[in-house]
Amino acid sequence: MAEAAAPKKLTIFDLQAKVDRGEKVFQVTAVDYPTAQLVDRSGVDCILIGDSLGMTALGYSGTVPVTMDEMIHHAKAISRAAKRALLVGDLPLGAYHAATADAINNAMRMLKEGGTDVVKIEGGEDFAPMAEAVVKSGVPVMAHIGLTPQLVSKIGGFKVQGKSAETGVQLLKDALAMEKAGCFAIVLEAIPDRVAQVITEKLTIPTIGIGAGPHCDGQNLVLHDMVGLFDRFTPKFVKRYANCWDVISQALADFQEDVHKGQFPLAEHSFTMKEDEYQAFLKKLDSTK
Ligand code: KIV
Repeated sequence: MAEAAAPKKLTIFDLQAKVDRGEKVFQVTAVDYPTAQLVDRSGVDCILIGDSLGMTALGYSGTVPVTMDEMIHHAKAISRAAKRALLVGDLPLGAYHAATADAINNAMRMLKEGGTDVVKIEGGEDFAPMAEAVVKSGVPVMAHIGLTPQLVSKIGGFKVQGKSAETGVQLLKDALAMEKAGCFAIVLEAIPDRVAQVITEKLTIPTIGIGAGPHCDGQNLVLHDMVGLFDRFTPKFVKRYANCWDVISQALADFQEDVHKGQFPLAEHSFTMKEDEYQAFLKKLDSTK
């Protein structure tokens, strides 16, 4: 029997074409093989291997401690699962901040070792030279401005950005600088919807919002947030579509109750031995006493 054809792998050009046709772009953050399989098969355009995995998968309090090696470890598992979606690998704090050479080397590592298609870099005007160097080296870059969790100390916490006239205009300058640097798309995180609308209108590359209102070209959610697998806090911009925490907790409680009551394992979960083998086994036991 002929094998089903592999799904067509999406490229950065498919994203732009979708936006040009007036269609929305979908990006979801996954952390490992099964979550990437689920996300890939759901038909979203991009799987983000976001450094938020530091919180959702590794238990850190934020994204600051996440290392390049940790990102690559997760990227490897995710890239084995993703057959269709564009794979976006986050470069973590420290991977591109000191020099453009670091940015290029770590972007190359993400593609060669992690198996991603593109990388993502947090920051605006200040990081445009790094983004430009990576793009020129041949690696497509997704930018990320607004709430940039890697710089949480600088921005004073996990706060909405661009709420004043001045900071709103700075966000537009940041977005334009990253577009000029050659980025193929930009994430807008936690910024007022009207600022995101203006940025979306002024840019030609796709804007992907997370807490940036409905006018962006696309939307991003973190899988663990949207399915209720992260219990520490839920940002205002998250819509919870399922409560997997409760489902899994109930399954664990049911398992223990079943064992206590003798309802698990049953014959259907056990392996049997033929009667004659069993009799021979008992005999052998006797003879080995
Ligand atoms: O790490 C991440 O998941 C992200 C998204 C919040 C955009 O950067």
